[in-house]
Amino acid sequence: MGIRTLAAVAVGVALSLAVNGDAAAAKLVKYKIVDETSIPKSLTGKPGDAKKGRALAINRKKGNCLACHAMPIPEQPFHGNIGTDLSGAGGRYSEGELRLRLVDSKVVNPDTIMPAFYKNTGFHRVLKKFKGKTILSAQEVEDIIAYVKTLK
Ligand code: HEC
Repeated sequence: MGIRTLAAVAVGVALSLAVNGDAAAAKLVKYKIVDETSIPKSLTGKPGDAKKGRALAINRKKGNCLACHAMPIPEQPFHGNIGTDLSGAGGRYSEGELRLRLVDSKVVNPDTIMPAFYKNTGFHRVLKKFKGKTILSAQEVEDIIAYVKTLK
């Protein structure tokens, strides 16, 4: 590949990254809340991957569920106790109820401190680099649901 082609490829990649970033920021998957308690339909139509979901729940920059919840994840030393213990949460909640909790917990409890993981509007004082972004992608939400559903 000549230097010119390389440069063109580099520019192409940079451009498509920027465009994808904006598209992802502006457009969330549309979803429907039923009975103010549940989003019954998958955000992506693809089944979640429980193994990835577990990793996302631990990841401090993603789910970070352990900051507030105890979970059956013994290899991680510090578990929060601001939220409920999620052991057994897969039996207590339907998939749709978990989905709404993760997408926008404030619909269930307006006073909650649990972050809305799939929301990009209505926040105050958002850091520039997070503007228009969600904490989790739609598929990451589905992966975490799949994981929490295994906690019975
Ligand atoms: C900043 C703290 C915080 C983080 C981070 C957090 N939660 Fe929560 N969560 C809470 C609190 C507090 C509640 C209790 C109910 C409420 O406030 O509405 C809760 C409630 C829940 C519930 C309902 C359980 C019940 O017994 O009522 C589920 C399920 C849940 N969280 C899952 C998660 C998952 C999965 C993650 C990670 C992706 C997560 N939470 C991250 C604070 C948090």
